[in-house]
Amino acid sequence: MKKILIQFDTDAMPSCFDRVVAVDAGVDDLFSYGGISTENVVGLVHGAIFTRGPGSLKNTAIFIGGSRVADGEAILRKVQASYYGPMRVSVMMDSNGCNTTAAAAVVAAAQHLDISATRAVVLGGTGPVGHRVAQILASQGANVRLVSRSAERAAETCDLIRTQTESGTLEPAGAATVDELLNCCHGRELVVAAGAAGVCFLPTGVLSQLGDAAVAIDLNAVPPVGIADIGVTDKAKVIGGTTCYGAIGVGGIKMKIHRAAVASLFEANDRVLDTPEIFSLAQNIQNA
Ligand SMILES: NC(=O)c1ccc[n+]([C@@H]2O[C@H](COP(=O)([O-])OP(=O)(O)OC[C@H]3O[C@@H](n4cnc5c(N)ncnc54)[C@H](OP(=O)(O)O)[C@@H]3O)[C@@H](O)[C@H]2O)c1
Repeated sequence: MKKILIQFDTDAMPSCFDRVVAVDAGVDDLFSYGGISTENVVGLVHGAIFTRGPGSLKNTAIFIGGSRVADGEAILRKVQASYYGPMRVSVMMDSNGCNTTAAAAVVAAAQHLDISATRAVVLGGTGPVGHRVAQILASQGANVRLVSRSAERAAETCDLIRTQTESGTLEPAGAATVDELLNCCHGRELVVAAGAAGVCFLPTGVLSQLGDAAVAIDLNAVPPVGIADIGVTDKAKVIGGTTCYGAIGVGGIKMKIHRAAVASLFEANDRVLDTPEIFSLAQNIQNA
Protein backbone atom coordinates (compact mmCIF):
# COMPACT_ATOMS: atom_id res chain seq x y z
CA MET A 1 0.00 0.00 0.00
CA LYS A 2 1.30 3.46 -0.89
CA LYS A 3 2.63 5.68 1.88
CA ILE A 4 0.65 8.92 1.79
CA LEU A 5 1.82 11.99 3.70
CA ILE A 6 -0.77 14.72 4.15
CA GLN A 7 0.88 18.10 4.61
CA PHE A 8 -1.10 20.66 6.61
CA ASP A 9 0.58 24.04 6.22
CA THR A 10 -0.75 27.07 8.06
CA ASP A 11 0.76 29.36 5.39
CA ALA A 12 -1.12 30.01 2.14
CA MET A 13 1.53 28.20 0.12
CA PRO A 14 2.63 24.77 1.43
CA SER A 15 6.34 24.77 2.19
CA CYS A 16 8.55 23.63 -0.70
CA PHE A 17 11.24 22.65 1.84
CA ASP A 18 8.89 20.30 3.71
CA ARG A 19 7.72 18.80 0.39
CA VAL A 20 11.26 18.01 -0.73
CA VAL A 21 12.08 16.39 2.61
CA ALA A 22 8.89 14.29 2.40
CA VAL A 23 9.98 12.90 -0.97
CA ASP A 24 13.52 12.27 0.31
CA ALA A 25 12.04 10.47 3.33
CA GLY A 26 10.47 7.88 1.01
CA VAL A 27 6.86 9.08 0.88
CA ASP A 28 5.03 7.69 -2.19
CA ASP A 29 2.34 10.34 -2.44
CA LEU A 30 2.19 13.80 -0.90
CA PHE A 31 -1.08 15.69 -0.49
CA SER A 32 -0.24 19.32 0.30
CA TYR A 33 -2.79 21.74 1.73
CA GLY A 34 -2.08 25.42 2.41
CA GLY A 35 -4.11 27.91 4.44
CA ILE A 36 -4.87 25.31 7.11
CA SER A 37 -6.58 26.54 10.25
CA THR A 38 -8.42 24.98 13.18
CA GLU A 39 -11.61 25.92 11.30
CA ASN A 40 -10.94 23.88 8.17
CA VAL A 41 -8.73 20.99 9.27
CA VAL A 42 -11.27 18.54 10.73
CA GLY A 43 -12.80 17.44 7.42
CA LEU A 44 -9.33 16.75 6.05
CA VAL A 45 -8.45 14.65 9.10
CA HIS A 46 -11.64 12.66 8.62
CA GLY A 47 -10.61 12.11 5.00
CA ALA A 48 -7.33 10.68 6.30
CA ILE A 49 -8.75 8.38 8.99
CA PHE A 50 -11.92 7.04 7.36
CA THR A 51 -10.47 5.89 4.03
CA ARG A 52 -8.25 2.97 4.98
CA GLY A 53 -8.97 0.17 7.47
CA PRO A 54 -7.42 0.34 10.96
CA GLY A 55 -4.78 -2.22 9.95
CA SER A 56 -3.65 -0.07 7.03
CA LEU A 57 -3.78 3.37 8.63
CA LYS A 58 -0.05 3.32 9.35
CA ASN A 59 0.39 4.00 5.62
CA THR A 60 -1.21 7.42 6.00
CA ALA A 61 0.37 10.19 8.11
CA ILE A 62 0.06 13.92 8.74
CA PHE A 63 2.81 16.56 8.76
CA ILE A 64 2.03 19.98 10.26
CA GLY A 65 4.16 22.89 9.10
CA GLY A 66 4.08 26.59 8.34
CA SER A 67 5.87 29.65 9.61
CA ARG A 68 3.68 30.30 12.67
CA VAL A 69 4.55 27.79 15.36
CA ALA A 70 1.68 28.69 17.69
CA ASP A 71 -0.74 27.98 14.83
CA GLY A 72 0.97 24.65 14.20
CA GLU A 73 0.56 23.73 17.86
CA ALA A 74 -3.16 24.56 17.68
CA ILE A 75 -3.52 22.40 14.55
CA LEU A 76 -1.77 19.51 16.30
CA ARG A 77 -4.28 19.68 19.18
CA LYS A 78 -7.19 19.87 16.74
CA VAL A 79 -5.93 16.93 14.67
CA GLN A 80 -5.63 14.73 17.75
CA ALA A 81 -9.07 15.80 18.97
CA SER A 82 -10.51 14.70 15.60
CA TYR A 83 -9.46 11.06 15.98
CA TYR A 84 -11.87 8.31 17.09
CA GLY A 85 -10.33 5.38 19.00
CA PRO A 86 -8.18 3.36 16.59
CA MET A 87 -9.20 5.57 13.66
CA ARG A 88 -6.10 7.73 13.78
CA VAL A 89 -2.90 8.32 11.84
CA SER A 90 0.57 9.32 12.99
CA VAL A 91 1.26 13.05 13.08
CA MET A 92 4.35 15.24 13.30
CA MET A 93 4.54 18.96 14.10
CA ASP A 94 7.59 20.90 12.89
CA SER A 95 6.36 24.39 12.05
CA ASN A 96 9.26 26.55 10.88
CA GLY A 97 11.58 23.58 11.53
CA CYS A 98 11.38 24.37 15.24
CA ASN A 99 11.62 20.84 16.64
CA THR A 100 14.09 19.35 14.17
CA THR A 101 16.39 22.41 14.42
CA ALA A 102 16.37 22.48 18.22
CA ALA A 103 16.95 18.71 18.41
CA ALA A 104 19.86 19.04 15.96
CA ALA A 105 21.47 21.78 18.06
CA VAL A 106 21.26 19.75 21.26
CA VAL A 107 22.57 16.50 19.74
CA ALA A 108 25.47 18.49 18.27
CA ALA A 109 26.27 19.93 21.71
CA ALA A 110 25.91 16.50 23.32
CA GLN A 111 28.81 15.21 21.24
CA HIS A 112 31.09 17.45 23.30
CA LEU A 113 29.33 17.94 26.63
CA ASP A 114 27.45 15.93 29.24
CA ILE A 115 24.21 17.89 28.89
CA SER A 116 22.92 16.81 32.31
CA ALA A 117 25.89 18.56 33.92
CA THR A 118 25.96 21.56 31.59
CA ARG A 119 25.26 25.19 32.36
CA ALA A 120 23.81 26.55 29.13
CA VAL A 121 22.62 29.89 27.86
CA VAL A 122 20.09 30.30 25.05
CA LEU A 123 20.13 33.73 23.42
CA GLY A 124 16.87 34.53 21.61
CA GLY A 125 15.26 31.95 23.88
CA THR A 126 11.71 33.23 23.47
CA GLY A 127 11.41 32.27 19.78
CA PRO A 128 10.06 28.89 18.69
CA VAL A 129 13.52 27.43 18.12
CA GLY A 130 15.16 28.92 21.25
CA HIS A 131 12.20 27.84 23.39
CA ARG A 132 12.60 24.25 22.20
CA VAL A 133 16.38 24.27 22.58
CA ALA A 134 15.89 25.39 26.20
CA GLN A 135 13.09 22.86 26.72
CA ILE A 136 15.20 19.96 25.42
CA LEU A 137 18.28 21.03 27.39
CA ALA A 138 16.22 21.29 30.59
CA SER A 139 14.59 17.92 29.89
CA GLN A 140 18.10 16.43 29.84
CA GLY A 141 18.89 17.96 33.23
CA ALA A 142 20.83 21.05 32.15
CA ASN A 143 20.85 24.35 33.97
CA VAL A 144 19.52 26.77 31.36
CA ARG A 145 19.66 30.55 31.32
CA LEU A 146 17.07 31.76 28.81
CA VAL A 147 17.73 35.24 27.43
CA SER A 148 15.40 37.75 25.79
CA ARG A 149 15.47 41.50 25.30
CA SER A 150 12.62 41.44 27.80
CA ALA A 151 13.13 39.79 31.20
CA GLU A 152 9.35 39.43 31.40
CA ARG A 153 9.14 37.47 28.11
CA ALA A 154 12.07 35.32 29.23
CA ALA A 155 10.26 34.56 32.51
CA GLU A 156 7.03 33.69 30.65
CA THR A 157 8.89 31.25 28.39
CA CYS A 158 10.65 29.65 31.37
CA ASP A 159 7.26 29.23 33.12
CA LEU A 160 5.86 27.57 30.02
CA ILE A 161 8.84 25.20 29.74
CA ARG A 162 8.42 24.24 33.41
CA THR A 163 4.96 22.94 32.45
CA GLN A 164 6.59 20.85 29.70
CA THR A 165 9.46 19.30 31.68
CA GLU A 166 10.18 18.90 35.36
CA SER A 167 13.89 18.24 34.82
CA GLY A 168 16.73 20.73 34.79
CA THR A 169 16.60 24.29 36.00
CA LEU A 170 15.58 27.42 34.14
CA GLU A 171 16.67 30.95 34.82
CA PRO A 172 15.24 33.87 32.80
CA ALA A 173 17.40 36.88 31.94
CA GLY A 174 16.89 40.14 30.10
CA ALA A 175 19.73 41.43 27.90
CA ALA A 176 19.89 43.75 24.92
CA THR A 177 23.41 45.18 24.63
CA VAL A 178 26.52 43.18 23.73
CA ASP A 179 27.89 43.67 27.26
CA GLU A 180 24.63 42.42 28.79
CA LEU A 181 24.59 39.42 26.45
CA LEU A 182 28.23 38.60 27.26
CA ASN A 183 27.40 38.87 30.93
CA CYS A 184 24.61 36.31 30.44
CA CYS A 185 27.09 33.96 28.73
CA HIS A 186 29.55 34.21 31.61
CA GLY A 187 30.07 30.87 33.36
CA ARG A 188 28.14 28.90 30.71
CA GLU A 189 29.74 25.88 29.03
CA LEU A 190 27.20 25.92 26.19
CA VAL A 191 26.08 29.02 24.29
CA VAL A 192 23.25 28.68 21.76
CA ALA A 193 22.23 31.72 19.72
CA ALA A 194 18.67 31.29 18.43
CA GLY A 195 17.88 34.87 17.54
CA ALA A 196 15.78 36.02 14.61
CA ALA A 197 17.23 35.74 11.11
CA GLY A 198 19.69 38.58 10.47
CA VAL A 199 20.08 39.56 14.13
CA CYS A 200 23.67 39.65 15.41
CA PHE A 201 24.00 39.17 19.17
CA LEU A 202 27.79 38.87 19.49
CA PRO A 203 29.85 40.86 16.96
CA THR A 204 33.27 39.92 15.61
CA GLY A 205 36.00 39.51 18.19
CA VAL A 206 33.93 38.69 21.27
CA LEU A 207 33.93 34.88 21.04
CA SER A 208 37.23 34.90 22.92
CA GLN A 209 35.43 36.64 25.79
CA LEU A 210 33.20 33.58 26.28
CA GLY A 211 35.95 32.10 28.43
CA ASP A 212 33.86 29.26 29.87
CA ALA A 213 32.15 28.22 26.63
CA ALA A 214 33.27 24.79 25.51
CA VAL A 215 30.64 24.79 22.75
CA ALA A 216 28.96 27.66 20.89
CA ILE A 217 26.17 27.15 18.34
CA ASP A 218 24.65 29.83 16.14
CA LEU A 219 21.39 28.89 14.42
CA ASN A 220 20.97 32.09 12.41
CA ALA A 221 22.14 31.59 8.83
CA VAL A 222 21.01 35.00 7.53
CA PRO A 223 23.73 37.70 7.58
CA PRO A 224 24.60 39.22 9.88
CA VAL A 225 24.71 35.91 11.76
CA GLY A 226 24.08 35.65 15.50
CA ILE A 227 27.67 35.06 16.61
CA ALA A 228 29.87 36.81 14.05
CA ASP A 229 33.03 34.81 14.81
CA ILE A 230 31.30 31.58 13.77
CA GLY A 231 31.04 30.79 10.06
CA VAL A 232 27.65 29.51 8.87
CA THR A 233 29.19 26.26 7.63
CA ASP A 234 31.40 25.67 10.69
CA LYS A 235 30.83 22.21 12.11
CA ALA A 236 32.69 21.30 15.29
CA LYS A 237 35.34 23.88 14.31
CA VAL A 238 37.51 24.79 17.27
CA ILE A 239 37.97 28.55 17.52
CA GLY A 240 40.15 29.71 20.43
CA GLY A 241 39.25 26.66 22.52
CA THR A 242 35.50 26.76 21.79
CA THR A 243 33.93 24.11 19.55
CA CYS A 244 31.69 26.01 17.16
CA TYR A 245 28.75 25.20 14.93
CA GLY A 246 27.12 27.58 12.45
CA ALA A 247 23.57 27.27 11.15
CA ILE A 248 24.50 25.26 8.06
CA GLY A 249 26.90 23.20 10.19
CA VAL A 250 23.89 22.11 12.25
CA GLY A 251 21.68 21.92 9.14
CA GLY A 252 23.05 18.56 7.98
CA ILE A 253 22.06 16.86 11.24
CA LYS A 254 18.71 18.67 11.15
CA MET A 255 17.94 17.28 7.69
CA LYS A 256 18.74 13.74 8.82
CA ILE A 257 16.43 14.14 11.82
CA HIS A 258 13.62 15.60 9.68
CA ARG A 259 13.83 12.75 7.13
CA ALA A 260 14.01 10.06 9.83
CA ALA A 261 11.06 11.57 11.70
CA VAL A 262 8.87 11.58 8.57
CA ALA A 263 9.90 8.00 7.75
CA SER A 264 9.07 6.86 11.30
CA LEU A 265 5.50 8.12 10.98
CA PHE A 266 4.78 5.11 8.76
CA GLU A 267 5.85 2.53 11.35
CA ALA A 268 2.55 2.79 13.27
CA ASN A 269 -0.70 4.74 13.10
CA ASP A 270 -0.51 6.33 16.55
CA ARG A 271 2.74 8.29 16.64
CA VAL A 272 2.64 11.91 17.80
CA LEU A 273 5.97 13.57 17.06
CA ASP A 274 6.47 16.83 18.91
CA THR A 275 9.55 18.15 20.76
CA PRO A 276 10.41 15.22 23.11
CA GLU A 277 9.71 12.53 20.53
CA ILE A 278 11.75 14.28 17.83
CA PHE A 279 14.65 14.77 20.24
CA SER A 280 14.53 11.11 21.23
CA LEU A 281 14.68 10.14 17.57
CA ALA A 282 17.59 12.57 17.06
CA GLN A 283 19.50 10.89 19.90
CA ASN A 284 18.99 7.48 18.29
CA ILE A 285 20.35 8.81 14.99
CA GLN A 286 23.36 10.33 16.75
CA ASN A 287 24.08 7.15 18.69
CA ALA A 288 23.56 4.77 15.73
N1 LIG B 1 19.73 26.07 10.83
C1 LIG B 1 18.49 25.66 10.58
O1 LIG B 1 18.28 24.57 10.04
C2 LIG B 1 17.33 26.54 11.01
C3 LIG B 1 16.00 26.11 10.89
C4 LIG B 1 14.97 26.92 11.37
C5 LIG B 1 15.30 28.16 11.91
N2 LIG B 1 16.59 28.56 11.95
C6 LIG B 1 16.99 29.85 12.51
O2 LIG B 1 16.87 29.76 13.93
C7 LIG B 1 16.72 31.07 14.46
C8 LIG B 1 15.58 31.09 15.45
O3 LIG B 1 14.36 30.84 14.76
P1 LIG B 1 12.99 31.38 15.39
O4 LIG B 1 11.92 31.08 14.40
O5 LIG B 1 12.88 30.90 16.80
O6 LIG B 1 13.32 32.95 15.39
P2 LIG B 1 12.39 34.22 15.74
O7 LIG B 1 11.16 33.79 16.43
O8 LIG B 1 12.23 35.03 14.50
O9 LIG B 1 13.34 35.05 16.74
C9 LIG B 1 13.84 34.49 17.92
C10 LIG B 1 13.99 35.57 18.97
O10 LIG B 1 14.91 36.56 18.53
C11 LIG B 1 14.64 37.76 19.26
N3 LIG B 1 14.72 38.91 18.35
C12 LIG B 1 13.89 39.20 17.32
N4 LIG B 1 14.26 40.34 16.71
C13 LIG B 1 15.35 40.79 17.41
C14 LIG B 1 16.17 41.93 17.28
N5 LIG B 1 15.99 42.85 16.32
N6 LIG B 1 17.19 42.07 18.17
C15 LIG B 1 17.41 41.15 19.13
N7 LIG B 1 16.65 40.05 19.31
C16 LIG B 1 15.64 39.88 18.44
C17 LIG B 1 13.22 37.65 19.81
O11 LIG B 1 13.32 37.53 21.22
P3 LIG B 1 12.86 38.74 22.20
O12 LIG B 1 11.90 39.59 21.45
O13 LIG B 1 12.22 38.01 23.33
O14 LIG B 1 14.13 39.42 22.56
C18 LIG B 1 12.71 36.34 19.22
O15 LIG B 1 11.86 35.63 20.10
C19 LIG B 1 16.49 32.00 13.25
O16 LIG B 1 17.67 32.70 12.95
C20 LIG B 1 16.13 31.03 12.12
O17 LIG B 1 16.46 31.53 10.85
C21 LIG B 1 17.60 27.76 11.54
